[in-house]
Amino acid sequence: MLVVGAMCGCVTVGLARAETVAERDARMAWWRDARLGMFVHWGLYSAAEGVWDGKTYQGGVEWVQHYAGVPAEVYAARLRPWFKPKKGFAREWARLAKSMGAEYVVFTGKHHEGFALWDSKLTDFDAKDFVGRDLFKEIVSALRAEGLRVGVYFSMIDWHHPDFPVKNTGLPHPLQKHLDRPGFDPDAGRQMDRYVDYMHRQAEEITTRYGRLDILWWDYSSKETQGPAWRADELMAAVRQRQPGIIMNNRLYFSPNVEGDNLGIFDVRHGDFTTPEQHIPATGVPGVDWEACMTLNGTWGWSQHDFSWKSAADLVRNTVDIASKGGNYLINAGPLADGTLPETIQVRFRELGEWMKVYGESVRGTTANPVGAVPWGRITAKPGKLYLHVIDWPKDHRILVPIQPPPAQATGRMLGDPENQSIACDIQANGVVVTLRPGRQNPYVSVAVLELPGRN
Ligand code: GLC
Repeated sequence: MLVVGAMCGCVTVGLARAETVAERDARMAWWRDARLGMFVHWGLYSAAEGVWDGKTYQGGVEWVQHYAGVPAEVYAARLRPWFKPKKGFAREWARLAKSMGAEYVVFTGKHHEGFALWDSKLTDFDAKDFVGRDLFKEIVSALRAEGLRVGVYFSMIDWHHPDFPVKNTGLPHPLQKHLDRPGFDPDAGRQMDRYVDYMHRQAEEITTRYGRLDILWWDYSSKETQGPAWRADELMAAVRQRQPGIIMNNRLYFSPNVEGDNLGIFDVRHGDFTTPEQHIPATGVPGVDWEACMTLNGTWGWSQHDFSWKSAADLVRNTVDIASKGGNYLINAGPLADGTLPETIQVRFRELGEWMKVYGESVRGTTANPVGAVPWGRITAKPGKLYLHVIDWPKDHRILVPIQPPPAQATGRMLGDPENQSIACDIQANGVVVTLRPGRQNPYVSVAVLELPGRN
């Protein structure tokens, strides 16, 4: 149905009009340029710290309620006294994100435990009722004050809501640990429809009350419970109407890529980007916007006993590897219950930030390696430029950039070289041989830039 608005001379369409490719490109532009974001997992689970009744749990301990099979009321009552956010915590997050070189932050507005960080009128399981503050608002304001884009993680799974089903969803629920109790029917009286209404209204709260949101990061679906079970089309359309520029991931639908490497399946109607978790797809996801999310140790929510921290070299190399494959890197921080960012997280993120300060232009605003894999490192591109990320610096300082056909002209320099000296670029039949400048090695990844006039 087409309705022509005679008054303004514009054309409106009865049903939501599909976005053109150019419109989508414009909407996605900042996100594609950003390449680096900070993920924050913070909720009541941060107060449990990976321990329940004296037992320690490994893995993503924001799941401790599920692992330990804790009923919702017990969980809420036990953690409530320990969840005491300090003043100004959000400013610390925002400043750290900024000094890491991130362009955006995605924080858990509500995780699987169901606790809402905003002042929800639909439940008393929220920050306002627990601590008398709208923590969502504090976080959003702090991020904006630092000029960061604002992303919200929102879990459809809800272990607190009395209508969220326990069985047959293909999704986790703490009460699944109690199914062998004689006569216990956990789903008696639960109605998924009512839960889905509630979830839609919660999504409405966050997308109407806090100004512009840049990202909505849904989490997550199973084969059995996805898309129509969440009334996803309606939900996404409503969000888009309220927040026309918003970018959403595709986890309202089941996407095998969350677990494995089957990244070929992508439908733009199910979300704007796909989210490989804890791994970098070997060749990226050609033609698809993607973001690899990763923990800094082995958990998303804070754990008092997980010391398996990635090194600064890991962070820099992952950033470069992901950018060279055309993706974004969303790297996680799990603050303590009072919002404090543990020292190790701060140190690591600042180390990445120091590297980004010098070499950031080789990551931000770049596109994937256009010339094929190289044995010495990674490559990113901008019009007329290739950034050569050297991980294995050869003894003779010479690297081959296999540009085919070879360019007519090429000049180069080391990025971050205060003297800005040019480096030798020999054009040969198999590409350009670049001689790196000894002494310009960076301990994580060194970068040379190759200027190729007239090349896109
Ligand atoms: C998973 C986990 C969750 C984490 C998320 C981050 O879906 O359930 O705990 O928040 O991945 O990608």
